[in-house]
Amino acid sequence: MLTTRPRGTNDFLPQETEKWQLIEKILREICEEFDYHEIRIPIFEHTELFQRGVGETTDIVEKEMYTFMDRGKRSITLRPEGTASTARAYLEHKMSALPQPVKLYYMGPMFRYERPQAGRYRQFHQFGVEVFGSSDPGVDAEVIALAMAFYQRLGLTGLEVRLNSVGCPKCRPAHRQALQQFLKQDLEQLCPDCQGRYDRNPLRILDCKNPQCQKITAGAPTILHSLCPECVDHFAAVKEYLGMAGIQYQVDERLVRGLDYYTKTAFEVVVQEIGAQSAICGGGRYDGLMESLGGPPTPGVGFALGMERIFPTLATQGIELNPEKMLDVYLVAMEEEGQKKAFQLLMDLRKMGIKAEKDYMNRSMKAQMKAANRFQVKYVLIIGADELAKGTVMIRNMETSEQKEMMVADTLNFIEKAVK
Ligand code: HAM
Repeated sequence: MLTTRPRGTNDFLPQETEKWQLIEKILREICEEFDYHEIRIPIFEHTELFQRGVGETTDIVEKEMYTFMDRGKRSITLRPEGTASTARAYLEHKMSALPQPVKLYYMGPMFRYERPQAGRYRQFHQFGVEVFGSSDPGVDAEVIALAMAFYQRLGLTGLEVRLNSVGCPKCRPAHRQALQQFLKQDLEQLCPDCQGRYDRNPLRILDCKNPQCQKITAGAPTILHSLCPECVDHFAAVKEYLGMAGIQYQVDERLVRGLDYYTKTAFEVVVQEIGAQSAICGGGRYDGLMESLGGPPTPGVGFALGMERIFPTLATQGIELNPEKMLDVYLVAMEEEGQKKAFQLLMDLRKMGIKAEKDYMNRSMKAQMKAANRFQVKYVLIIGADELAKGTVMIRNMETSEQKEMMVADTLNFIEKAVK
């Protein structure tokens, strides 16, 4: 049907986009404070980037990508996330030659063929940051602090930071083995997905939401027991830095993220009240990603937060975003001549940088005043029959109901001073 949008997508109407813009503005301000700089990456990439970057055995690559052949017979994928592309861009533009670390942020649509439900869409939006070139645990804490600074600025409270270390290629094999050993006897009781994960990616079994799998994995060996000394030290330092940043966190030994590139730090920010899709932000360190894309070893750490999930979170905490009122002035005019004068004034006001609007529907005076009220403007300029005859404009202050009559030229000066 041509009057319905595809499943899992959204239209954001002006009332909502004004709130989105406010959120984007706050995010940009915070990035400036934290010295992160915007990168704009393509909406589509070579499919191989995500297969190698995100990982062949992840749900994203196995079942959720929007992949198609373009007319040149190349396999193309709509980006399901931003980390792989940002890392690709770092390599492609030889950003290793820049002063390190390189601190980037992005925001925009991502695409995953998931089962849509509240908070889960097929086209959704992420704000994300990526820091390349430093293995300092302070950076892990900094990116978490950036996310929390944003939520705090919105007025949100009670968010939980879940923190884990998923180890590195040195310590993971031992954990993998221990886990497989533990699960072996119950392999057939696991859900079909987890049976498939047993060989390919057993760590993900710990993260399965199926109650039967959760029962089986209760008491399974966790990665924290297998960490190598380097990962132990790194994890301890991240916790220390988080403490210094005043960020409360909970260590969650079962936290396994759904993307394969993570090493050491993994974290999520969750809010229980918004239902099943409670993760509002997720990220971690990915020191092996650059190499898996064919680049030199380059450490990295970052996160992405779901922009759609901000709104239900605000709603459950009773927080209303109040974007600035859009208009300063509304012009009310009668008859063709008055409308023409109003049009001239409108253009002059806008040239002065004043946000103004007039009637274009030939409405009655009363209906135009109603429109002015709806816009909640501070000033209404009225050109009625009287004013037309005298060549004046009536200026009405909508807050005080005071009225003043002025010549057109004086009106512009008055409004400029009053509004700016
Ligand atoms: P992710 O956990 O897949 O990580 O996604 C991050 C956040 O995006 C989630 O916590 C959630 O808020 C939001 N999100 C994910 N899928 C959907 C969906 N279908 N509908 C609505 N919101 C969604 C990543 O994407 C990594 N690239 C994060 C990262 C950056 N790690 C390091 N750097």
